[in-house]
Amino acid sequence: MIKMLHSGWAYITLLVLIFAVVNVVIGLTSKKEFKDKDLRISLFTLIVAHLQLIIGFIAFFVSAQFAYVLDNGMGAAMKEPEIRLIVLEHPLMMILAIAAITVGFSKHKRQTTDNGKFKTIALYYGIALIFVLSRIPWSQWLSF
Ligand code: HEM
Ligand code: HEM
Repeated sequence: MIKMLHSGWAYITLLVLIFAVVNVVIGLTSKKEFKDKDLRISLFTLIVAHLQLIIGFIAFFVSAQFAYVLDNGMGAAMKEPEIRLIVLEHPLMMILAIAAITVGFSKHKRQTTDNGKFKTIALYYGIALIFVLSRIPWSQWLSF
C-alpha cells in the first residue's frame, strides 16, 4: 500500500519537477517577468517533493530491504547492489534532491530581480532533477 503510494507519487513528483525546471529555464532564457504563476509552480513542486519525502520515510521503514539490514547487518547489505540502492543510495540522493529544492525555493525569495529568481530556481531545481534521475530504482519501478 505505502509502496504503491510512493511509487505512484513518484510519477507526479518527477513530472512536476521536470515541468518546474522547463518553466524556469524558459523564463530565464526569454527574460520574462517572474509572475505569480512561476511562484505557484515552484511552490507546488516543493510541496509535492516534501510529501514524497514523508511517504519515502515510511516506505523505507517497512521495506524488505530495511528488514534485510536488520537481519543481516549493514555490511552484508552493502555487498548487494540492489539492497544498497534502496537502503542507502536512493534515500540519500532523494533527500539531497529535496533539500536542494527547499534551499532553492527559500533563496529565490531573497532575490530582487526576475532574472535572479529564475536563475536560483533553475540551478537548485536542476541539480535536484539530476539527483532524482540518477538514483530512481528504474528497473524496479518500470516493472511495477
Ligand atoms: C519530513 C518532512 C518535512 C521536512 C523535513 C520539511 C522541511 C522543510 C523546510 C526545511 C522548509 C524550509 C523553510 C524555509 O526556509 O522557508 C520547508 C518549507 C515548506 N514545506 Fe516542508 N518539510 C516536510 C514536510 C512537508 C509537508 C508534508 C508539506 C506539505 C504537504 C510541506 C510543505 C512545505 C511548505 C509549503 C513550505 C514553505 C514554503 C515557503 O517558504 O513558502 N513540508 N519544509
Ligand atoms: C524525489 C523523491 C523521491 C522519488 C521521486 C522516489 C521514487 C521512487 C521510485 C520510483 C521507487 C520505485 C517504486 C517501485 O518499486 O515501483 C522508489 C522506491 C523506494 N523509495 Fe523512493 N523516491 C523518493 C524519495 C525517497 C525517500 C526520501 C526515501 C527514504 C527516506 C525513499 C525510500 C524508498 C524505498 C525504501 C523504496 C523501496 C520500496 C520497496 O520496494 O519496498 N524514497 N522510490
